[in-house]
Amino acid sequence: MNLKLRVWRQKSNKDQGKVVDYTLNEVSEDSSFLEMLDLLNEDLIHKGEDPVAFAHDCREGICGTCGLVINGIAHGPERATTTCQLHMRKFKNGDTIVVEPWRSRGFPIIKDLVVDRTAFDRIIQSGGYVSVSTGSAQDANSLPVAKSAADRSMDAASCIGCGACVAACPNGSAMLFTSAKLTHLNSLPQGQPERYDRSVLMVEQMDKEGFGGCTNIGECEAVCPKEIPLEFIAEMNRNLIVAGFKGAGKRL
Ligand code: SF4
Ligand code: FES
Repeated sequence: MNLKLRVWRQKSNKDQGKVVDYTLNEVSEDSSFLEMLDLLNEDLIHKGEDPVAFAHDCREGICGTCGLVINGIAHGPERATTTCQLHMRKFKNGDTIVVEPWRSRGFPIIKDLVVDRTAFDRIIQSGGYVSVSTGSAQDANSLPVAKSAADRSMDAASCIGCGACVAACPNGSAMLFTSAKLTHLNSLPQGQPERYDRSVLMVEQMDKEGFGGCTNIGECEAVCPKEIPLEFIAEMNRNLIVAGFKGAGKRL
């Protein structure tokens, strides 16, 4: 297939940036979106031009490193799919495809399509762990975990930290991500001793990083490649209310 690409190019955080048009021919419909960008970069390198910077690692939907706004949609047109797992067969011969980076105050642009997502790391560092003793390996089976709690925790743990939720939200809110990380630990018995402190500290860090608040728009849930539900945000807010009564948030 032959494509017209409109790609955001920006040399650095200080640069204004602009959309640059490219033509790319003979792209296999079996190639992935990132492989298509690899082809573009091979072309650019052959011409002696600067290749397009984009972030990627596993290319199988598990690391959360990739992430592009494709034709205005975070991770592109296919639901529950990361950019790296999107295939060119979802597009048509002759299509024009607009490729942009995540845009949010919390994710400053580093170069072209690469943004700095270390704000997510700092949110996890602020409380996304269990630091109380949960026993040794041989004690693992002595602490029963209800099937429903294990399932809920696993569902939340499937968040790959890609940041599409932030990119899609008109408020630049990171509440879907933060609530997934909280629900992962807060659903388990091992997570209970630090549950309310963890909830307060992670939300405080989320606010410090410049992410906006949730106003129930739901774009985050719509673009999330792991189908993290909005309901986790409601649970996070319920935890914060209880934490307020307990005076939590200082003890981790
Ligand atoms: S909640 Fe979904 S969209 Fe947000 S970081 Fe996690 S996996 Fe990505
Ligand atoms: S490169 Fe790892 S999820 Fe896409």
